[in-house]
Amino acid sequence: MNPVLQVRALERRVGDVEILRRISLDVMPGEAIGVIGPSGSGKSSLLRCIAGLDPISGGDVLVEGRTAKPGDGAIGMVFQQFNLWPHLTARDNVALALKVVRGMPAKDADAKAEAALTKVGLGALGARKPAALSGGQQQRVAIARTLAMEPRVLLFDEPTAALDPELTTEVLDVIRTLAASGVTMLVVSHEMGFVASLSTRVVFLDHGVVVQAAPPGEVFGGGGEPRVKTFLKTYLERVAWTKDA
Ligand SMILES: Nc1ncnc2c1ncn2[C@@H]1O[C@H](COP(=O)(O)OP(=O)(O)OP(=O)(O)O)[C@@H](O)[C@H]1O
Ligand SMILES: [Mg+2]
Repeated sequence: MNPVLQVRALERRVGDVEILRRISLDVMPGEAIGVIGPSGSGKSSLLRCIAGLDPISGGDVLVEGRTAKPGDGAIGMVFQQFNLWPHLTARDNVALALKVVRGMPAKDADAKAEAALTKVGLGALGARKPAALSGGQQQRVAIARTLAMEPRVLLFDEPTAALDPELTTEVLDVIRTLAASGVTMLVVSHEMGFVASLSTRVVFLDHGVVVQAAPPGEVFGGGGEPRVKTFLKTYLERVAWTKDA
């Protein structure tokens, strides 16, 4: 089996600042890669470079062996902010790019949008506008919008960071279901329990470098690199504190 995504010696510099330093990662079809690391370590930058949203200074990003080009639909990305059009229904938000970017006839685009909404559990709410949906539902519409484009790889950058804790679960469950159905994905999340249970491999970034890339049992099971252990210890202390509060 060939990797669906190959990141080779990827570098991103802005002026003198080295944001990503020779990152290499092969992702096999159906893998779910959890990306963790401290704030400012380069997690969003890595996803944005893979998606072609940030220019790279060196290296390659290949999808199914070919250089990915922005707009070719090979990579789909879901952001912390849902960025739905407020004046459009959920269905129209999902169908818009199919019609405008892909030139799909309205009837086909609407059917595809319905199917994508059903996949995220919102088949019954396609006629609602974003203001009539919860934050979790809006994020699921945003996921459906990305799914409808049928990308080869799906990227999630802190998809639940803007949500109340009780709305987080429904979005994480959707991502879990997609992973279980074989969607190849990279997920940046601070929800460590979720990352541990979802991921086939976990990548820990620090200062733009991959410090560790290993199965979650290794990363979370105490066998991690010292830098990773320190990060997880701080995280666990914070979670314990939140529980006590
Ligand atoms: N356009 C830019 N110009 C200069 N520096 C940038 C630019 N974009 C990002 N950076 C810097 O690159 C580093 C990595 O940023 P990035 O947003 O990728 O981190 P992150 O791991 O996603 O952090 P967080 O967990 O806070 O979201 C940071 O130091 C950031 O300030
Ligand atoms: Mg980020």
